[in-house]
Amino acid sequence: MRKQIIIGNWKMYKTNSEALNFIKEVDSKIVKNSNLIAGIGVPFTALSDAKKAAKNLVIAAENVHFEKEGAYTGEISIPMLKDLNVEYVIIGHSERREMFNETDETVNKKALALLANNMIPVLCCGESLEIFEAKKTKEWVENQITKGFNQISAADAKKVVIAYEPIWAIGTGKVATPEIAQEICKIVREKIASLYNQDVANEILIQYGGSVKPENIKEILNQADIDGALVGGASLIPDSYLGLVNFK
Ligand code: PGA
Repeated sequence: MRKQIIIGNWKMYKTNSEALNFIKEVDSKIVKNSNLIAGIGVPFTALSDAKKAAKNLVIAAENVHFEKEGAYTGEISIPMLKDLNVEYVIIGHSERREMFNETDETVNKKALALLANNMIPVLCCGESLEIFEAKKTKEWVENQITKGFNQISAADAKKVVIAYEPIWAIGTGKVATPEIAQEICKIVREKIASLYNQDVANEILIQYGGSVKPENIKEILNQADIDGALVGGASLIPDSYLGLVNFK
């Protein structure tokens, strides 16, 4: 049976002190469940203290550079994250693709570099409203997955967490219906089966993201091919976050 994985994505919210207050309030209230990974992606400035403070929460980074080091002003490397014992890294979020020129190629380089360092990429994919309305979601997402997994071995592919996030549902309050979310997550799993094999497809974790809240998470996670959620807005408030991860 696949585990479930719920990760908050704080984006550019919360100072280090605010993050610590949140973790102090939330960490001990996470209901122990060996089948659920409960995490939060925090800004770089909060990573070090958050890692030290969290006992139950998994602390993820929201981005990383694929080069080990170099003249890349403002970037953060994998060794820098490893030194803080960070394991999970969100890559290719649509906001980074749209506003910071991330491409399937750079996302793939990041995934390869993370896996080579025994870290876990949370690889985001998802279509715009225009593509959704043109009924081209399947081709779009399949292409993102094919390019994102380029040269990744089957053994490594299993370790990746895929987050399917329709851009039109992010921060808009417009959640994709559980049926739509399931349909696309199934397409993603089938694509993984065709790129690798059924074994990899059966093991890989696929999250849905886009306006997930405590009120709708249960229905979303009840879908056969959805193993978790990547949650922005509703992960920022302690009670709301606890409502997400203690949803049962
Ligand atoms: P949202 O964001 O939950 O606020 O829609 C999701 C995301 O961007 O990962």
